[in-house]
Amino acid sequence: MLNWDKYSEEKGAGADMCEAEALQVQKINTETTANDLLSRAQASIANMDVGPGLDELEIGAARVQVDDKRMINCRADLNQLVPFKYEWAWQKYLDACSNHWMPQEINMAKDIAMWKDPNGLSDDERLIIKRSLGYFSSADSLVANNLVLAIYRLITNPECRQYLLRQAFEEAIHTHAYQYCVESLGMDEGEVFNMYREVPSVARKAAWSIAHTRGISNPDFKSGTIETDQELLRNLIAFYAVTEGIFFYCGFSQILSMGRRNKMMGVAEQFQYILRDESMHLNFGIDVINQIKLENPHLWTNEFQQEATQMILEGMELEIAYARDTMPRGVLGMNARMMEEYLQFIANRRLNQLGLLEQFPGVKNPFPWMSEIMDLRKEKNFFEARVIEYKTGGALQW
Ligand SMILES: [Fe+2]
Ligand SMILES: [Fe+2]
Repeated sequence: MLNWDKYSEEKGAGADMCEAEALQVQKINTETTANDLLSRAQASIANMDVGPGLDELEIGAARVQVDDKRMINCRADLNQLVPFKYEWAWQKYLDACSNHWMPQEINMAKDIAMWKDPNGLSDDERLIIKRSLGYFSSADSLVANNLVLAIYRLITNPECRQYLLRQAFEEAIHTHAYQYCVESLGMDEGEVFNMYREVPSVARKAAWSIAHTRGISNPDFKSGTIETDQELLRNLIAFYAVTEGIFFYCGFSQILSMGRRNKMMGVAEQFQYILRDESMHLNFGIDVINQIKLENPHLWTNEFQQEATQMILEGMELEIAYARDTMPRGVLGMNARMMEEYLQFIANRRLNQLGLLEQFPGVKNPFPWMSEIMDLRKEKNFFEARVIEYKTGGALQW
């Protein structure tokens, strides 16, 4: 924090004189050049060559019609948000804004006391907290980078891009939430933020996601051929259906199970809001993938469907390995075997959402309470109260 009193004391009166003189000289120079700069700006505008800018804007070209809009490889003007073609994307953007929250609103006092109390939590419970913060703090950063550095420029639809921008902000809030938990609990930041490179079960999940962003995050990557469009689809499946749709589910259910047992309620509340956001990210991604399939049926070959199914199963296997590593024994009313069943249920659900064959017929959800927590409508009153709060708090005073 800057302290000007201390600054003056240290510098002394003589030093202040010199500073004042220097400022005076700088002011004269600025005034002289300001006139110059204004004349130069006026001359530049008078002689402006509008050709290149107008070419890009296609002045006089037809207005965008709904039918011109396409999810990928669209040639229509991407600066015209309306008319909407994908109403669902705009609705998801509005819903996401209505669910706005910030990590500092959640009281962490009881969590801090429980974390610092040697008898507050078992070693197995502490391991779960550490692993979750370690994996998620890196995973949300990987997702955010994939969004802004890879996906955004390739999704050629303005209403979907509007949602992507909102999602990117939510990923920043999630990373903020993990950092806020780590800081509140006084955890070893180096240990937490390097876990994705140092703990094998965490590192393997992160490595799998990174491998699937490499192709399309290359600045030279261009969609528009069967091969490149399939590469883009692979990325969307890897990030929306696997990273956000499978890799988050063991950690989420462990932390939420802790909250249901009145332990680490602040951390659990943060995760509950994140899970709500994530289930919307997942649903948005599934809708985008299915829309691309509809508009480009030639990409969805039998071979590609097999590959997509394999990707879901790979994600499930990595998440089962993570469950075994984080739950060497039964804890919080769950164990690795139950988590395996839950992840088979989740894999079935993802396959089904993508129009692929379920691989584990008849498998049941051993944690039905997870579905209830994800259902946004159940706690509508909470969000209604919060939205009103944001509207009041955000009013500007002029
Ligand atoms: Fe996230
Ligand atoms: Fe997300």
